[in-house]
Formats: sequence, C-alpha cells, structure tokens
Amino acid sequence: MAVDLLLGLQWGDEGKGKIVDVLTKNYDIIARFQGGPNAGHTLEFDGIKHVLHTIPSGIFHKNAVNVVGNGVVIDPVIFKKELDALKEFKIDIKSKLLISRKAHLILPTHRLLDAASETAKGKAKIGSTLKGIGPTYMDKTGRNGMRVGDLEMDDWKEKYRALADKHEAMIDYYNVDIEYDLAELETDFFASVEELKQLTFIDSEEYLFQAQKSGKKILAEGAQGSLLDIDFGTYPFVTSSNTTAAGACTGLGVAPNQIGDVKGIFKAYTTRVGSGPFPTELFDEDGETMGRVGNEFGATTGRPRRCGWLDLVALKYAVQVNGVTQLMMMKADVLSGFESIKVCTAYNYKGEEITHLPYNIEAENVTPIYSEMKGWKEDLTKMSSAEELPEALKSYISFLEKELEVPITIVSVGPDRTQTILR
Ligand code: IMP
Repeated sequence: MAVDLLLGLQWGDEGKGKIVDVLTKNYDIIARFQGGPNAGHTLEFDGIKHVLHTIPSGIFHKNAVNVVGNGVVIDPVIFKKELDALKEFKIDIKSKLLISRKAHLILPTHRLLDAASETAKGKAKIGSTLKGIGPTYMDKTGRNGMRVGDLEMDDWKEKYRALADKHEAMIDYYNVDIEYDLAELETDFFASVEELKQLTFIDSEEYLFQAQKSGKKILAEGAQGSLLDIDFGTYPFVTSSNTTAAGACTGLGVAPNQIGDVKGIFKAYTTRVGSGPFPTELFDEDGETMGRVGNEFGATTGRPRRCGWLDLVALKYAVQVNGVTQLMMMKADVLSGFESIKVCTAYNYKGEEITHLPYNIEAENVTPIYSEMKGWKEDLTKMSSAEELPEALKSYISFLEKELEVPITIVSVGPDRTQTILR
C-alpha cells in the first residue's frame, strides 16, 4: 500500500492542518515527518478552533493512529501543553499517538541558542519562531543530539547535562544580552519529560513498514512549506529541515518507491512570515485587505504575515520538486471582492524574462510579471459544490490548472472542516 503525502507549496501556513483533518477519514495512520513546534496547524470544527504544533492533525479522528516521525523535533514542554489542551477531547493518547524513538529532543538551551543566534544576526535575522528548531537540527546533523529513545536509558540526565553545559558555553560565545533562568527552565523541562515518558515510544520505521505491508492507508503530513525547505527554499531564510517530498522518506523511513499521491496545498494568494525575499509581496491596500480578510497572523507566534499575489513561478517550482499529483487551493474566499486578480507568471530577472525560480529572488534581481484576470464579488463561504462557484473563480482555477499541469481537487472556502469543496 502506497504512502500518500500532504505538503505545503509556499512559505507555510497554507492550511495543511485543515486538509489533513478533512482527509483523515480516508486513512488509518497520519504520520508527521519533519519540523517541530515552529508549526501551527489550525483546525476548526463544531465551533471549536484548535491549534496543533507537534501532534499530527488526525488526532481528533477515532479511526486514525497518529505517528510523530523520526524527522520531527520535539520540545517536551510544548508537547505537554499540547497534550493538556487535548484532555477535554478524551482521546486515548496512549494508543492514538505514537512517538518515534529516533525523533530528536529540543532542550531549553536549544531555544536559548536560537534567541542568541538571532540576536547576534541583527538585521540579517531569519525571523525564526525561536522554538529552538535550528540548534536542535544542528545537534542532530552534528551527531550530538538527544533522542526520544535516550529517555529510556538510565544515563539520559548525564547526557542532558553535558549537552546543556556545552550549549551554555556557546551562548556565552555569542556575547549577546539574553536573560534566562536555566534552573527554572529545567524544572519545567524535566517535569514535561516525565509526562512525555508516559506516551508510547516506537521504532516508527518498522511500525510504518508493517502497517504498509498489512494494507493500512498512511498519510504523511508535512509542516512549513516547500519554499522554507533547507535545500530548495529561499536559503538562508528557511527552516532547518527538508519540508519537500523527499523529507517524508527520510523523516519516516518510507522508501521512495512507496510514495503514492503527493497532495500539494497552496493559498489562492501568497503569504510569508519572517524575513526573506518575497517577489509578489504587496505593500498597498490589496495586501492589507488579504491580511485582514484572511486573518493572516502566525498561529505559533501571532506575527502578522506578509501578503501578496499568487506566484506561479515559485508554485511551479514547488510542484516540480515535490512531484505533486493533486493540488488543493485554500482561502479562495479571501479573494472575493477584488475588482481584478493578479497572478505572477514570469519574472524579469536582471532584464531577462524567465519562468523558472533563479538562485537570487531578492527584489534587486527579480520583478514579477503579472497576468490580470477578472475578480468576483460573491461570498463563497456558504457554497458547497464546485458548480456554485462564480465563473470568474472557475476561470482562475482553469488558468492555474493549465499552467501547473496538475488538477485542483479541493477548493477551500473557509476555515471550518465543512467549508471544503471537492472537484
Ligand atoms: P524556524 O524554523 O522557527 O527557525 O524559522 C525559520 C523561518 O521559517 C522563519 O522565517 C519562520 O517564520 C518560518 N517558519 C517556521 N515555521 C513556520 C510555519 O509553520 N509556518 C510559516 N513559517 C514558518
């Protein structure tokens, strides 16, 4: 049985949480493959709004088991808060949420290192969520990290101490002014680790292999977006993991020839939170309207998101890198009311028109070239079938499908589970 993937094609915040939640009824297992609590996956159903950071978005469905894969980094403190927030839903966490022993742990000092590094960078800062993601993946690839499986060993506290002491020396090296009380952070950390240890730890690659063999349907859930990928994103303004399709193989132990459908999610426009180039960014009333109507504030940090028109050059690149087989367009409702809609179909790159994403996409190198089409006025939020959609939106969708050469199978018209149109 093939493993399907679901990932974001822009700079994150495309609405992956909502779509995983909608699709979970078709799957037995939802497995998160990378990232950590820098993610904020928002789900809305039955009048409830819930934000998940590390826990896969299938957790509210009785039929599915949720796996936190080896490629994920876990902060026990944030994880405990997520678990506490789930208590009212009476989910059988021990059997419905399984954690890979190979997932790495975010220590309190990783968070401090993130803050020190960003402060030292000054104006060149990444705009990190400051959740310790970069330093934790650095320790992973530097072969110094602590993993969930270490918590089953007697000597894990010694291992912790040695690493935290080293981190403190590194924080001193940055020579920046950050205030912290490590003893207090550690009290919280150790208490949270005890809670984490109550959960079920598994050898997730073996679990998923056996699940595939016995015909279970698996959906791999990505976090962040393709343009934040450590290799293929707008480096260095990226996150520290592979957010693209290949990341699902390394982040879960799924072989490439076992990947089935690749579901790519994008917003009908573009947003970005944090620093870094963004060719179609708007600094005018249109951008302000997208932000306000789309409620574009980070689910993890609350920061306002930068907004702009859809960038087909970047989207095509993401479709290509991921091998997307189905597209899902989110927040179509936010574009209702615009007189006309613009789509970037090419870049003027140092005086030359190009349609691929070049190495440098900073404003001094790239100017977007737009196609303009008619907007629509209708409120989409109560529509439930593709036929009901306004003609101008239908034309927008057909145009995108033609350009991207992949079908758009879902159009989302609001944040609730029910506001999802299948095509
Ligand atoms: P970090 O992964 O927290 O270090 O952040 C690196 C960059 O990725 C920053 O620009 C963040 O704003 C961005 N980022 C990280 N996680 C997310 C996410 O879930 N959605 C959108 N942007 C994110």
